[in-house]
Amino acid sequence: MPKLPKISPPKPPLPPSMQPPPKKAGSKNPPLKPHEQAIEGGTHAIGWIDERTSLSGAARWMMFRKVPKGTNWFYTLGSATMFAFLSQAVTGVFLAMYYNPSVTQAYESVRYINNEAFLGEFVHGMHKWGSSVMVILVFVHMARTFFFGAYKYPRELNWVIGVALLILTMAMSFTGYLLPFDQRSYWATIVGVNINGTGPLVGPYLNDFLRAGPFFNATTLSRFYAIHMMLVPGIIAALIGAHLYLVAKLGTTAPPWMKAEEDEQLREESA
Ligand code: HEM
Repeated sequence: MPKLPKISPPKPPLPPSMQPPPKKAGSKNPPLKPHEQAIEGGTHAIGWIDERTSLSGAARWMMFRKVPKGTNWFYTLGSATMFAFLSQAVTGVFLAMYYNPSVTQAYESVRYINNEAFLGEFVHGMHKWGSSVMVILVFVHMARTFFFGAYKYPRELNWVIGVALLILTMAMSFTGYLLPFDQRSYWATIVGVNINGTGPLVGPYLNDFLRAGPFFNATTLSRFYAIHMMLVPGIIAALIGAHLYLVAKLGTTAPPWMKAEEDEQLREESA
């Protein structure tokens, strides 16, 4: 019997953004290597998204900014704080996969993370030490902005957002401390909550809110957990967005010694 020719189904046409560039007459392009194909595919995908969203304009506005003369390492402290926050968020997601916020299971789940889960002790260690790193960085960053006079007009609002970020960072440390649910974390949290209660006007209400009632009870731990892993990080992420928007819009402050040099020059010019 004669062999029938193989018929393959017609290929659907590629969208314009995926079309290969037109070939010059007589030229032969060598076939792309796999990694070149991957890069080209990625570029096309980014181009496809950008054509529909124009996000590259916003990214350029945010990333390509002029910075004042004399900008130095002290200006990296804000970004360092942000990366500490991101590291906390990523390690926190992995811890949440194993942690159980119940009064009978919490301690056991942390023991499991530390002793049995794959890389559990490492991830838990990163989260625990990372929290101290973030607190230190946020204070040093605040000191930098204070000593460089960056809180003055027109950046007062960014300072106020920064104060909210500072309080929320402390709230993260405070609510996270209870979660291992060992003797130390339990009694330290009772002390902390009692200190809150001595605050004027809102103190006692804040206490009842944190404890989920007039006394520590079974719901207190899950309340701390919800505040620690959803409420506060969500607000922090939103405020960092606003903080960075203002940094991009207003630019950063020049170091004070640069201003002094400028003034000196002006004085010489006017003399
Ligand atoms: C989660 C905490 C925070 C993050 C992630 C963060 C992030 C940043 C970043 C990336 C910058 C631009 C680069 C730089 O100047 O370092 C910045 C600038 C600034 N931040 Fe923060 N920040 C935080 C907390 C604070 C706090 C606690 C304050 C003060 C109370 C503050 C006040 C400011 C001010 C005033 C600027 C403008 C600096 C200038 O114009 O030179 N920030 N922040």
